[in-house]
Amino acid sequence: MNDTLGDWKRSHYCGNISVADIGREVCLMGWVQRRRDHGGLIFIDLRDREGISQLALDPDRDPAAHNKAEQVRNEFVVAARGVVSARPEGTVNSKMKTGEVEVEVRELRILNSAQTPPFVIDEYTEVAENIRLKHRFLDLRRPLLQHNLIMRHQLAKSVRHFLDDQGFVEIETPVLTKSTPEGARDYLVPSRVTPGTFFALPQSPQLFKQLLMVSGFDRYYQIVKCFRDEDLRADRQPEFTQIDCELSFVDRDQIIDIMEKMIAEVFKSTLNLKISLPMPRLSYAEAMTRFGVDNPDLRFDLELVELSKQVENSGFKVFAEVVANGGIVKGLNAKGCAGLSRKEIDDLTEFVKIYGAKGLAYVKVQEDGSWQSPIAKFFTAEEIAAMDQALQAAPGDLLLFVADSFRVTNESLGRLRSHLGHKLGLIGEDQYRFAWITDFPLLEWDEESRRHVAVHHPFTAPVEEDFALLGSNPGQVRAQAYDLVLNGSEIGGGSIRIHDQQIQKKIFSLLGIGAEEAEEKFGFLLSALEYGAPPHGGIAFGLDRLAMILTGSDSIRDVIAFPKTQKATCLLSGAPGQVDKKQLQELSIRSALRPQ
Ligand code: AMO
Ligand code: AMP
Repeated sequence: MNDTLGDWKRSHYCGNISVADIGREVCLMGWVQRRRDHGGLIFIDLRDREGISQLALDPDRDPAAHNKAEQVRNEFVVAARGVVSARPEGTVNSKMKTGEVEVEVRELRILNSAQTPPFVIDEYTEVAENIRLKHRFLDLRRPLLQHNLIMRHQLAKSVRHFLDDQGFVEIETPVLTKSTPEGARDYLVPSRVTPGTFFALPQSPQLFKQLLMVSGFDRYYQIVKCFRDEDLRADRQPEFTQIDCELSFVDRDQIIDIMEKMIAEVFKSTLNLKISLPMPRLSYAEAMTRFGVDNPDLRFDLELVELSKQVENSGFKVFAEVVANGGIVKGLNAKGCAGLSRKEIDDLTEFVKIYGAKGLAYVKVQEDGSWQSPIAKFFTAEEIAAMDQALQAAPGDLLLFVADSFRVTNESLGRLRSHLGHKLGLIGEDQYRFAWITDFPLLEWDEESRRHVAVHHPFTAPVEEDFALLGSNPGQVRAQAYDLVLNGSEIGGGSIRIHDQQIQKKIFSLLGIGAEEAEEKFGFLLSALEYGAPPHGGIAFGLDRLAMILTGSDSIRDVIAFPKTQKATCLLSGAPGQVDKKQLQELSIRSALRPQ
């Protein structure tokens, strides 16, 4: 039988006692990190969310407590009463927050026992992630994860505080709803009451927050779960949290101004870091030209350089033909990297192929400035000089080139740029480089479905001066959309919305959504736009991604209490799982698959 709490009340967190408490009686409660027997004396490291305290048990002083301590094992839940004392000289542990003191225990209670855990709960033990996730409640005892989740809480708290100050109202929107298009697949929930129909879980509260503007709430926010059935990566989860905002009677610059102040406030209150405002802005076109991607990591240079002009008439057919066929050639200069081995360059070639590039041409610039390269022979001295100049080549540099369509060239070299930034150690620690990316195209052509799709979402307003192009050249129309990028990660995105029903209908039709389909899917929005919709716009930030960056985590799973695996399953609860036949019958559902 375990002891009970009785009338014991905790006086301090284990991690919070210090020299200031010497001589004071304390009552601590927590988990046993470790027990050490020193010929008679027993030491217990007792842990709670704030840290660890050393309990000292002397058989001569308190025999009963000492006897009890002999039963204690790792992860037992223990309460101890005693007096804080200075550690004897030579036993001070400067690495511990509480390393100058210990608690001379007078009474000990074992509140609960514990099985030997499947892994040691500390900072140092490397444990396979599937084991951690299966025993997530133990994994979460580790100080790193405790720190991450507490930081996440502080992040949410400072957001709420800031937005409240700015007059935003937090309003909940439904989770059982209709499809909200954000480009991913929906999670569906069958309706029992109306057999054969389904709710969709929201990919975002987009439509509802726009309706709230029509209703006159003026400034809305919500820290809200969103659901997207998409391929998962290190920074994506099927359910994730947005800081979702919408404002009326404002333009893009006002939204950007408020939101960057909010982000600066978050950095101040979580990391005590001052972010200088205003944050830099880059147009989408400039980001693509210089970095090949719309989420550039600005912590290092290594910019892409277009070389189409320099090579269009060259003897290297691969390059000349790509340019002749409307593609582009770009290069980047990996400074001082001419020493990379053949194998390393082959690896880089394989890397760009993931993004569709057909090859990666390379040049090693020799001591005398000449080119060592399989493609050097195809170029005239003038062409080489022109490329050298564009790339600012110097002896010892490695020049890398891709020739392909605009999309493939930019994406493959852009990704290679980030890869090299990490591989070559170009990224300093604790740097936070923000940029707003603006003037995105409104639409992009989707080869597969052979129609235009919205780059942001179908409710984004076109830039007014581009309205005329909607009929003649829709691909050229810019959107009043903006993303906030931090260290190469898209942490937020939003836009000014369409508040005119006719324009919204026109955009639906450009997107190949017929009048009937528009009515069926978005009739409630179209109807609201007829009843006095104010000009409005907003943004949503990925709270998990922000938390990842603030805590320096490599995986989004490290800032989510109970995350899903890359396969969108929960190893702890076993979800998704089978359900009873009866439940399916009630829902009028029959699965075509046998359970695996
Ligand atoms: P968007 O789709 O750009 O915009 O999403 C906003 C932000 O949410 C984060 N995010 C994700 N985080 C983790 N896992 C995911 N699967 C995931 N998907 C997105 C990103 C992203 O920048 N309704 C619009 C916002 C608006 O227009 O106001 C929207 O959802 O950080
Ligand atoms: P090849 O003439 O195909 O042997 O290619 C010579 C070099 O050019 C090799 O290093 C290839 O990786 C590279 N290469 C081939 N196609 C491309 C391309 N589209 N863009 C950049 N480099 C390429």
